[in-house]
Amino acid sequence: MKKYEEIKEILKKNNQEQLLVCYDKLDTEGKEKLLNQISDIDFKQINTLYENTKNNKNTNSKDDLIEPIDYVDESKLTEEEYNNYKNVGENIIKTKKLAVLTVAGGQGTRLGFKGPKGKYDIGLDTHESLFELICKPLKEANKKYGVIIPWYIMTSNENNEETVSFFKENNYFGYPEKEVKFFIQGEIPMISEDGKILVNEEGFVKLAADGHGGVFKSMVRSGVLKDLNARNVDWLVIGPVDNPLINMADPIFLGVTASKNCMAAGKSVVKANPEERVGVFCKRNKKPSVIEYTEISQEMCNLRDKNGELVFGESNVNCNLFNMKRINEVAENELPYHAAHKKADYIDENGKLVVAEKPNAYKYETFIFDAFESMESMAILRVKREEEFAPVKNAEGVDSPATSRELYKKFYNIK
Ligand code: UD1
Repeated sequence: MKKYEEIKEILKKNNQEQLLVCYDKLDTEGKEKLLNQISDIDFKQINTLYENTKNNKNTNSKDDLIEPIDYVDESKLTEEEYNNYKNVGENIIKTKKLAVLTVAGGQGTRLGFKGPKGKYDIGLDTHESLFELICKPLKEANKKYGVIIPWYIMTSNENNEETVSFFKENNYFGYPEKEVKFFIQGEIPMISEDGKILVNEEGFVKLAADGHGGVFKSMVRSGVLKDLNARNVDWLVIGPVDNPLINMADPIFLGVTASKNCMAAGKSVVKANPEERVGVFCKRNKKPSVIEYTEISQEMCNLRDKNGELVFGESNVNCNLFNMKRINEVAENELPYHAAHKKADYIDENGKLVVAEKPNAYKYETFIFDAFESMESMAILRVKREEEFAPVKNAEGVDSPATSRELYKKFYNIK
């Protein structure tokens, strides 16, 4: 009871008393859970996030100096350069200095699929899931280099159980089970347009995944960072679950980055057209960064150089490489939160269910690429789209299962 009184006082102070609206209806276990959830809330952080959103103080300012960034075009390397990079990269893999991590906290909602996005079947005759397709090149690299690359998978509270069961049911797709490790990403409360933390349909705090940038803090919380450090891993590639052509164990990527003494790297492909919905690499206030498709101006999108190439044309395919020294540092610092205006059903302060018909709440997310700004140097490797980028985002049209499947079949020469 003491805890309840204390929590009530904290909520009163923060003007968030609605969070206890369902308390009396919960069983003992539920009551305990709710009080623990509330104790975990950083009210100062929530207030700051809300104030920034209301005052239109975005994470990125319009006054930021955005400039194009240098990149290495893999297809233009000389044979000597290519072989040198390959040697350096292969040596990193062979000496067990590489680990890979898939951020798989997302659901297949945009595809009209209820489960974890990694379970999605893009419609190949084999009906392999995205997880299985991503796993294949890793298994090949293991065979080629005589190692087993540790594979970490970040799930979310929403999909962890289903993801782990899926791997078990499928015998880990032939990957050595003890080298596949799952960990759960963080969550942050959703806030109404008037700054109230929302209550979900079960009477608990309405939490949402904190974005893939939460990977760094979650690695600390779950012990993954400790595990990587104990294994003396030097390099970590982090990639998404929605690109079956992703090439994470890539010696050239590693070789270019290590040879240039960079602490991080990203792969890019040439932007297909000015309107393509991808983030592009750039320098923001002289630091490596990504400018998202939601924030780039029309003018910047269309800007071309004297050769007719888009000035901001290095699309972020979300396949990033970090030196472990930097991961340790990034994990200790805060990444900025980006607000997204979303539809959210919730229980109001009178205990009534509110069904959202239009965006009515804010969800806050951090992005992996915001960690680039703390790197003094970063390598961007331009790779070929048809070899490495077949994203599955929408149910139909651009970046759909149909386009992804076609690209996949073409690359692997499947009839
Ligand atoms: C992303 C990039 C964009 C890039 C494009 C390439 C961001 C913000 N933008 O866009 O710059 O050009 O991919 O395809 O990333 N995920 C989690 N937890 C979360 C949120 C996402 O694990 O809380 C995972 C998803 O499961 C997925 C990956 O992160 O594997 C990408 O996330 P998504 O939100 O789909 O990115 P996009 O908006 O498509």
